[in-house]
Amino acid sequence: VVQAASDKVVVIGLAADSGCGKSTFMRRVTGIFGGEPKPPAGGNPDSNTLSSEMTTVICLDDYHSLDRNGRKEAGVTALAPESQNFDLMYEQVKALKEGKTVAKPIYNHVTGLLDPPEDTTSPNILIIEGLHPFYDDRVNELVDFRIYLDISDEIKFAWKIQRDMAERGHSLESIKASIEARKPDFDAYIDPQKKKADMIIQVLPTQLVPDEKEGKILRVRLIMKDGMKLFDPVYLFDQGSTVSWIPCGRKLTCSFPGIKMFYGPDTYYGEEVSVLEMDGQFDKLEELIYMESHLSNTSAKFYGEITQQMLKNSAFPGSNNGTGLFQTIVGLKCREVYERITEKTVARV
Ligand code: ADP
Ligand code: G6P
Repeated sequence: VVQAASDKVVVIGLAADSGCGKSTFMRRVTGIFGGEPKPPAGGNPDSNTLSSEMTTVICLDDYHSLDRNGRKEAGVTALAPESQNFDLMYEQVKALKEGKTVAKPIYNHVTGLLDPPEDTTSPNILIIEGLHPFYDDRVNELVDFRIYLDISDEIKFAWKIQRDMAERGHSLESIKASIEARKPDFDAYIDPQKKKADMIIQVLPTQLVPDEKEGKILRVRLIMKDGMKLFDPVYLFDQGSTVSWIPCGRKLTCSFPGIKMFYGPDTYYGEEVSVLEMDGQFDKLEELIYMESHLSNTSAKFYGEITQQMLKNSAFPGSNNGTGLFQTIVGLKCREVYERITEKTVARV
């Protein structure tokens, strides 16, 4: 079947380990397309799907072939390819891309069981998020824009401690043990997918404060493949130059340890990329407009759109640092990719 450009369903893939901020990221991206993403009406309350007018986000955990018990019996983790049904994932992503409705399984995160399937209709923009969007070649080829969220071990550990110790009462030892147990499969099956990504958001400990280990201040890098048809990399001041910039001063308020920006060309697994980096955090989010005015090729539709989005989502984690800023920029790139593929214009929100 040949689809007219305007009928095309654009597929966006987001890969990351669990607990690394995928849902927060997705809320920023879908917000750019307008409408409040909601779970399917009248369906299973434990559905992992969220849809708004233009977008549907499906969680690839729904394609687990083994449920929690099955994994325990087989002695495999949720990260192992044996725990996924890639055939069904491929069939259904393909069908959705062709405009068809599918009966998608539901992995119930509460019970650890596979619940009866729910009907999922084809959206304008299908976002598949989870552990393995680029692992299977057939699925990978259906994806138009690939994003990888790369959280360094130190930061992953800091976030898990915050959540699992403070909110779930786990011990430090048990958190360490569960991270260690997942690590071999993470390294073997999840991490290598970043080589296939078009954009990578890398989250590292700050370099502004020696030995900062709490993961409060972050150094965040946006790695963008060069020479792509569907998007142009963002740049700071002058495309292709190497720029180091401390924007703190008369127009931007910074308390200790300040903000340091960096932009320049690099290579990433043998491919040419542009890198934009932000270390540190904002004191006053409104002043982000000053930094935004020095960025080019952001895919914003009007002056100040990035700042507006950041202010709108200021309650989300990462809003005062590079994670929020770069997730917002990647969201604008998703819109640009959609517009280039479909030759349609998304109304500004
Ligand atoms: P996922 O969907 O990948 O499981 P979430 O978006 O639910 O991840 O985030 C999991 C937790 O990680 C959040 O509750 C928060 O504690 C932490 N987190 C996520 N993103 C950030 C961020 N940018 N900065 C600080 N903490 C974050
Ligand atoms: C989901 C998550 C995994 C998590 C798993 C729990 O599939 O995406 O990251 O590990 O649930 O698996 P477990 O076998 O520990 O119940």
